[in-house]
Amino acid sequence: MPILVLYTTSQGSTAGIANRIAARIELRLPPCEVRNIADFNADYLPNYTAVVLGSPIHGAQWLDKAVKFYCDNKDVLILKPVYAFSVGAPNALPEWLRGKWGAFEEGKIEMSLQKALHGKVTRHTLLSGKLLPKKEPLVVRLCCGILGGEGVG
Ligand SMILES: Cc1cc2nc3c(=O)[nH]c(=O)nc-3n(C[C@H](O)[C@H](O)[C@H](O)COP(=O)(O)O)c2cc1C
Repeated sequence: MPILVLYTTSQGSTAGIANRIAARIELRLPPCEVRNIADFNADYLPNYTAVVLGSPIHGAQWLDKAVKFYCDNKDVLILKPVYAFSVGAPNALPEWLRGKWGAFEEGKIEMSLQKALHGKVTRHTLLSGKLLPKKEPLVVRLCCGILGGEGVG
């Protein structure tokens, strides 16, 4: 049975990372499929050996559609190995804050995942995505700017 890499994305970084993860898995442990949650029929979830689940971080949490997906499908997910990755931009914050904020976000999101999936998430990792100042909402630009941060991508 294949491994499934499932993601949601707002501006494309998480999709790109999901595709790279899937390409690596395909080389070492084929077969591997990669899908956007929006196009995935959860009835097929039992057909996969393991699931890698990813979401961008907005407001220190996963996008609603990713949270809804793992909550709605927890009974199937807890029966197989689940790996998770979050895509955020803590590196856009000033140096004095980025390590602390990244650790806070990583822990907070992992706690939500483990709570919903009864501690069955094998591993959760925080990865860096894009934060392109011209494309971000004013409130995000202001927060990073006021604190002395920068765009990353
Ligand atoms: C409205 C908004 C809120 C965000 N909030 C956070 C946040 O709380 N923590 C963080 O690390 N990154 C935050 N980001 C940055 C995104 O997580 C980052 O740009 C990520 O690469 C987006 O992934 P995507 O390109 O797949 O949508 C925010 C971005 C937006 C647009």
